[in-house]
Amino acid sequence: MTVIYPGSFDPITNGHLDIIERCAKKFDKVIVAILNNPSKNTMFSVKERLDLIEKVLEQYDNVEIDTFTGLLIDYAKSKGVSTVIRGLRAVSDFEYELQMALMNRKLDEELETLFLMSSSKYTFLSSSIVKEVARFDGEISNIVPKIVEDAIRKKLKGDND
Ligand code: COA
Repeated sequence: MTVIYPGSFDPITNGHLDIIERCAKKFDKVIVAILNNPSKNTMFSVKERLDLIEKVLEQYDNVEIDTFTGLLIDYAKSKGVSTVIRGLRAVSDFEYELQMALMNRKLDEELETLFLMSSSKYTFLSSSIVKEVARFDGEISNIVPKIVEDAIRKKLKGDND
């Protein structure tokens, strides 16, 4: 079975990786789908996010990285996939995720959303938190891959020039 793991990934963190690695073990193929949402103010462009994820996940043969615009249901249909994976970090994620899953199912009744509980060490993590900590020179080496840490530091240095 092939599943889609969609998100903004601005940037990918160890929390996302945890979900992807676990999915790669359980499913035949995982498509990591980066949402191209021009209205969202992101630190990394879609191309930069794609490059980072490709490097971080290069050792996985059954993980494909892609981008999409528009509705998730349309993207899933175009890939011939009817299962979406989402990670649940805390109770606070539940309402938003429930709303999205139900709306997606209303739009396409074939689409199922499966939830994986985040590993407890990453329940506090989000891409914004990582960027915030990095902005104030805090330690992020244990919450993002090295290559992502370097990319964030480079971005922040560039921004301050
Ligand atoms: N570990 C760490 N952080 C995680 C995480 C995990 N396992 N899972 C989610 N997060 C964080 C993300 O880093 C992100 O942090 P940020 O807000 O600080 O950037 C935040 O949680 C939101 O997660 P993300 O997975 O990127 O969700 P999203 O809300 O940005 O996007 C989509 C979700 C892409 C699935 C959804 O917006 C979508 O499908 N959009 C397409 C349009 C559409 O079909 N809309 C109708 C849906 S009802």
